[in-house]
Amino acid sequence: MNTETIHLMDHPLIQHKISMLRSVDTDTKDFRQLVNEIALLIGYEATRDLPLEDQEVTTPLMKTIGKVLPKQVCLVPILRAGLGMVDAMLNLIPAAKVGHIGLYRDPKTKEPVEYYCKLPPDVSDRITMVLDPMLATGGSAAAAISFLKQRGVTRIKLLNIIGAPQGVETVQKAHPDVHIYLGHLDEKLNDQAYILPGLGDAGDRLFGTL
Ligand code: PRP
Ligand code: URA
Repeated sequence: MNTETIHLMDHPLIQHKISMLRSVDTDTKDFRQLVNEIALLIGYEATRDLPLEDQEVTTPLMKTIGKVLPKQVCLVPILRAGLGMVDAMLNLIPAAKVGHIGLYRDPKTKEPVEYYCKLPPDVSDRITMVLDPMLATGGSAAAAISFLKQRGVTRIKLLNIIGAPQGVETVQKAHPDVHIYLGHLDEKLNDQAYILPGLGDAGDRLFGTL
């Protein structure tokens, strides 16, 4: 594992909320709320190095030069579960554009299958943040990042809540330039490629389709 491109969140608030998220007793409403809160906290870390521009601001007392974010970010949730992280990220970066990539894991092969892709026309000019609560085999994240690179995107960050070592390695091998912001690194995958201890199926828990 390349420790230079993985950013593990050690903030107590994130760890506390992830424990609540894992619990089988957490219902859909609370699960959705927790995903939102955790995404906001991971998003705060993932935006730490966004470039700023100077802009003149007039205070009630005088003119000064303030620092502002240029319109530069595109959020890319991987459907479905990545949708749960969008609102929090838009609260942090209201001017961000949002692209969507639809992928599901083939139940037999565990390989990602694409069913939807809609990205803003200027996506290649933007810093893109790929959102997905789960990084299991890493197949979905690696495929989504490859789509973005095919569209000319060069600046990509990946934000996940729970990841398995295999998923981190897959993404790092395929995309060594991409920084991963991960809420918690779990132990391993089971034989169905679910993360252990994990939280089960994120999309089903988020949308109540269990
Ligand atoms: C889940 C999850 C990721 C993917 C992770 O989606 O949200 O996209 O699995 O697995 P991987 O790292 O092995 O590719 P899923 O395919 O279950 O689709 P859904 O969000 O529509 O339920
Ligand atoms: N997708 C999920 O939602 N959960 C896992 O544990 C693995 C893939």
